[in-house]
Amino acid sequence: GAGRIVVVGSLNADLTIYCDRLPQPGETVQGNGFAVNPGGKSANQAVAAARLGGHVSLVGAVGEDPNGAMLEASVAGVGVDVGHVRTSAEPTGVAVIAVDARGENNIIISAGANGTLSPKDVADAADVLEGAAVVSLCLEVSMDTVLAAAQAGHDAGAQVLLNLSPYAEIPSALAGLADILLVNSHEAALFLGSSVPGAGAAASEWDAVRSRFGGHGVQQVLVTLGANGSVVLDSLAPAGSRVAFVQPTQVHAVDTTGAGDAFTGAVAVRLAAGDGLADAAAFASVAAALATTRKGTQAAYPEAADVERRLRTS
Ligand code: RIB
Ligand code: NA
Repeated sequence: GAGRIVVVGSLNADLTIYCDRLPQPGETVQGNGFAVNPGGKSANQAVAAARLGGHVSLVGAVGEDPNGAMLEASVAGVGVDVGHVRTSAEPTGVAVIAVDARGENNIIISAGANGTLSPKDVADAADVLEGAAVVSLCLEVSMDTVLAAAQAGHDAGAQVLLNLSPYAEIPSALAGLADILLVNSHEAALFLGSSVPGAGAAASEWDAVRSRFGGHGVQQVLVTLGANGSVVLDSLAPAGSRVAFVQPTQVHAVDTTGAGDAFTGAVAVRLAAGDGLADAAAFASVAAALATTRKGTQAAYPEAADVERRLRTS
């Protein structure tokens, strides 16, 4: 059977207003709908992976408040093990989100309880981390915590996935511990300190990007390109197959919030099941596209059968 996926990180209540267009600084715009949804990049990754059939444990912290209860219910409701989601005196993390008519968003987060997650929580979760096949991380909890989780995953022989979102500079030790970096093109450019190729670029241009990641100690990278698909940069693959393009899945996007988390969760599931990186990316690309066709994040995530049906017909 497939190995266990351990997600260490954030849970947020998403307070979302839908509007025609996002406001400029100093501007007020009229919204046309409001919802409170379960979110947080790590909780989203965990739910995405569980809905796709993964065996998932989540390590995180919520407040003793209604948002915390909502989040635990959402995550546990799809079968994620929440034995290492603890409560905190801080309030549950919150994200204030605006989504426009094209499904694009902007997000502000307030860490709350997520900010209390510490290396001690990682140590306390040794029972699940020791048996992990994949450890999935993002940057919504402290860098010390992410580093401790990456180290624990590495020591357990798990594949460590690191989504560089929300973007922050990472210590070189963390780059070295991450087996696979998941970034969008904006995050890739920030990490490398220089721009990355645009849509339609040749494999040779991406091969130069692959080398630059290698110079930072990162051998495998998945770069998502929004509506233009994704690119697999794999320095561990044989020469000639180190760059692979994943074509976009054509969908009508209504809410792209959490699409990156769906991508990461789906990659985790396929790697835990033994897939190679390029196959995992192809599967995840479809999962992320389908996630944009419904409002919200966790409730919008597809099941494996939905993804497989779409993969067969494309
Ligand atoms: O990636 C989407 C997520 O970012 C939202 O669910 C929000 O909570 C923020 O963490
Ligand atoms: Na969505």
